[in-house]
Amino acid sequence: MEREDDRVPTTTKLTTQVAIVGGGPAGQLLSHLLRLSGIDSVVLELRDRDYTIQRVRAGVLEHGAVELLREVGLGERLDREGQEHHGINLQFDGERHNVSFHDLIGRSVWVYGQQEVIKDLMQAHDAAGTPARYSVSDVRVEDILSDTPVVYFTQDGQDYELRGDFVVGSDGAHGVCRPTIPAEHKKTYRRDYPFGWLGILAHVRPSTEELIYSLHERGFAMHSMRSEKVSRLYLQVDPHDDIANWSDERIWSELDTRLGIPGWTLHHGEIFDKSITPMHSFVSDPMRYGRLFLAGDSAHIVPPTGAKGLNLAIADAAYLHEALTDWYRDGSETGLDEYSPRSLRRVWQIQHFSSWMTRMLHRFDESAEGGHPENVDYDYHVQLGQLRLLTSSERAMSHLAEVYTGLPMLTRQR
Ligand code: FAD
Ligand code: DHB
Repeated sequence: MEREDDRVPTTTKLTTQVAIVGGGPAGQLLSHLLRLSGIDSVVLELRDRDYTIQRVRAGVLEHGAVELLREVGLGERLDREGQEHHGINLQFDGERHNVSFHDLIGRSVWVYGQQEVIKDLMQAHDAAGTPARYSVSDVRVEDILSDTPVVYFTQDGQDYELRGDFVVGSDGAHGVCRPTIPAEHKKTYRRDYPFGWLGILAHVRPSTEELIYSLHERGFAMHSMRSEKVSRLYLQVDPHDDIANWSDERIWSELDTRLGIPGWTLHHGEIFDKSITPMHSFVSDPMRYGRLFLAGDSAHIVPPTGAKGLNLAIADAAYLHEALTDWYRDGSETGLDEYSPRSLRRVWQIQHFSSWMTRMLHRFDESAEGGHPENVDYDYHVQLGQLRLLTSSERAMSHLAEVYTGLPMLTRQR
């Protein structure tokens, strides 16, 4: 719990143990885990509460992420409303192939929207009297090489100084924490893709029981869902395209074409959310500088094809929680020193998986960047060959199943 010290009239001084910048899944989950271990934290979030709760993003939780959420008291609604999925469908060349994780390796994933995870976390924080501070601005991190790093911020016109033992930068891809690590102390890696995803949410019952990932001549398409009445669908589009160019009719028609196979119908319905997200991969190494630790999208981004961004954020929160708990218990620095290499080992494996899935399932037209147009056709046929090899080998599909359902979390609990 933060404590106010009113002796300085202009800037209100606050102290905590762990100051967390960013109230997405990484920040809110870390704060929840720390509270369960008796460690105080304060979460600072740029956006207002309603925006934070409504932001539509990822939808698939790995096996280990679900186990973790259950263990820490966040599984009740997930078990009631989340949908356990035993596999996915891969579609190419007009054929749909089921990849049964359950039959291959006895595992599943859960379809449960990121905003539902956020809602559960917010509710748990409300119940414990530790809600995040929403709508903060002018966030600045300083003194990260000292034992008492500080976060300055403004809220409701009042300036604050929040000091803690540690600062966690879980402020996403465009946050302020990563840039405070000097360039000579980090290396960044980036890969842009020549496409983005147009994502929609629609009031219509899903037309499939399990997700469909489809490679079509006109580009990638995916069918996911949120509930028995809400479908989530994606289309590969030009990353610079304007969503205004995509009428609802055009979206449904393109989805019909890219997802259609004989004897199957895509149900249409009212689209109530649509947006275009460009796609890229990114890693910043190390995920620590002094007393500042990065978690989630602030340190690494993956293209969404492998459904991994949210799951990586959850793994970071779990790893960082363990490291901080060790330090508060007996002053051990080992966990803190190991946090960045441990997380990055997982991150690079998932970078591989996400880029593999992305390259296998999208049309890659880099002719605009100087690539030869003939390459596009060649690459497409190689991808068809790759998908046929994959779906005709139980061993190859088991590999996909192992990584899709989640690498072992390897926290102490499991
Ligand atoms: P975030 O969820 O980004 O949370 C960071 C938080 O920090 C935000 O609430 C932000 O408002 C706040 N913040 C930023 N700057 C500051 C500041 N200066 N001070 C205080 N707070 C700040 N993944 C998938 O697997 N599938 C998908 O379909 C998918 N779709 C996506 C769509 C979009 C538009 C985006 C951006 C991401 C998507 N992702 C998807 C990725 C996934 O949602 C992220 O990996 C996940 O949200 C990471 O969680 P996080 O807590 O690290 O970061
Ligand atoms: C969803 C998003 C993904 O990126 C993915 O690979 C699977 C599902 C979704 O939003 O439901």
